[in-house]
Amino acid sequence: MRIILLGAPGAGKGTVAKALMAYDGSVQISTGDILRNAVKNKTELGKKAQGYMGRGELVPDDLIMEIMESRFGEPDCEQGFILDGFPRTIPQAEALKKLLQKLHLKLDVVVNLDVPREVILDRLTTRRTCSNPDCQEIYNIKSKPPTEDGRCKKCGAPVVQRDDETEEAITKRLETYNEKTAPLIDFYRKEGFLKTITSTSSDEIVSIIRREIGST
Ligand code: AP5
Repeated sequence: MRIILLGAPGAGKGTVAKALMAYDGSVQISTGDILRNAVKNKTELGKKAQGYMGRGELVPDDLIMEIMESRFGEPDCEQGFILDGFPRTIPQAEALKKLLQKLHLKLDVVVNLDVPREVILDRLTTRRTCSNPDCQEIYNIKSKPPTEDGRCKKCGAPVVQRDDETEEAITKRLETYNEKTAPLIDFYRKEGFLKTITSTSSDEIVSIIRREIGST
C-alpha cells in the first residue's frame, strides 16, 4: 500500500501505521521518529532539528525533503509505504507530488484521522514510547500500558515519555498543526485522494483503511 496518514498530534497516526505494516510488508516512514533518532545520535541533522522540535515547531521543509528523497530510495520502500507525519505543509505536499511522479509511484489514499481535541490532549499526556530506536512501540498508561516496571512488552527496553510532551510544547504542536498541516486536508480533497475517518478505535480505523485499499 502507499498511503499518507494525516491528523493532529496524538490522533493515532503512529499506532495505526504500526498496525498496518503487518498486512503487506509496507514500511512505516515517520519523519518524527527519523528526527528523534537523529537528535539522540547527535548527527548533523539532529543538531539542526533539535531546537525546532523541542519548541513544538516544524523543522524546515528543505531538511525534510532531503530526508525523504533519500528514504524513498531505500529497498524496503519497494513493497509500499505508510507516511506518518509527512507531508506537514503545502510545500512538502507539492514536493512529494513531484517526487512520486519522478519515481512513477501513485498514492492509494490519504487518510485524515479526525479525533476530538479533548481525546488528543488526554492521549498525549498519557503516551509512552519504547526507547529502543529499532522498536519504538507506542504505549499508553491508560489504554495500552507497558510492563509493570515500565518496560516494552516487545523488546524489554525502558519505555519513556517524549521530550516534546510538555504542556507548552503540546499546545504549540496543536497550534502548528492547525496553521500549517490542516490545509493539507483541502489539498488532498482537491487531488481526489482524501478519506476522513472519525472513529477513535485504532482497530476500526485499520479495517476501514484496508477495505478502502482493497486489502481485506
Ligand atoms: P511527530 O513524531 O510526527 O509527532 P506528531 O505529528 O506530533 O504526532 P504524534 O507522534 O504526537 O501522534 P500520533 O498521531 O502518531 O499518535 P500516536 O499513535 O502516538 O513529530 C514530532 C516533531 O518532529 C514535530 O513537532 C516537528 O518538529 C518534527 N517533524 C516531524 N515531521 C515533520 C515534517 N514532515 N516537517 C517538519 N517537521 C516535522 O497516539 C498517541 C497516544 O494515543 C498513544 O499513547 C497511543 O497509545 C494512544 N492511542 C492511539 N490510538 C488510540 C485509540 N484508538 N484508543 C486509545 N488510545 C489510543
